Amino acid sequence: MNTVTVIINGKECMAEKGEFLIDIAKRNGITIPHLCHLESLRGLATCRICIVEAIENGKKRVVTSCIFPVMRDMAVETNTEDIKRMRRTLLSLLKAEAPENEMIESMIEDCGAGDYSRFEMDYGNDCIMCGLCVKACEELGCNAISTINRGTIKKVAAPYEEPSVECIGCGSCAYVCPTGCIKMEEGSGIRKIWGKEFKLLKCGECGRYFITKEQYEYVNKKLDIPEELICENCKKRLTAKKMMEIKN
Ligand code: SF4
Ligand code: SF4
Ligand code: FES
Repeated sequence: MNTVTVIINGKECMAEKGEFLIDIAKRNGITIPHLCHLESLRGLATCRICIVEAIENGKKRVVTSCIFPVMRDMAVETNTEDIKRMRRTLLSLLKAEAPENEMIESMIEDCGAGDYSRFEMDYGNDCIMCGLCVKACEELGCNAISTINRGTIKKVAAPYEEPSVECIGCGSCAYVCPTGCIKMEEGSGIRKIWGKEFKLLKCGECGRYFITKEQYEYVNKKLDIPEELICENCKKRLTAKKMMEIKN
């Protein structure tokens, strides 16, 4: 049998064997709080906010739902008193790392505040060292940023904290950052990120700036047939138009 039954908070959910718990819950309208999980970038499991209680044969254990593949029928509780208490403690640690961050604040509002009086606050910092940005850049094959230093001075940066030759200015790292702490500025056809400036190119259809020259060249180097200089919105619009023409 390739299907399993998962009872999440009393709701019966069917799933494919091996499917991750967080995805089964989402598909069934049950939200599990999470910070470092994206369907396209899996397996980091650094924040632990997505913990839940898994119950099998009467035995309970706490699992990290974003990396927990369901292999057998089981029951899951996402909001027991124990889970809520553990989540509050985890959020307190994240609050200490990024004390003024809006995303962490809104999670604390949803999940409740723990006691963070015993933690030293790292004011001025918004990075929770989740690693999503580094992973996104790595998946692209650019490897322009990494984690540097150790302990309390650990951070994400380009090598030697200088503008990186590997960076193509695609912005993927900034788009995936859960705390929104990677600065990316755009204006007058220029994008600035990680201390480097990139010239933006315009879409051949709508004329909107949408891609850096370096990203466009990088993508085309990887493809057999060069990509047209057209933004995603216009591509969708042109495809829909073509489909209508075929239909008529
Ligand atoms: S903007 Fe630069 S550092 Fe960020 S993902 Fe793209 S290539 Fe990597
Ligand atoms: S910059 Fe953002 S994505 Fe990168 S490690 Fe920090 S919080 Fe995570
Ligand atoms: S979302 Fe699962 S560990 Fe961060």
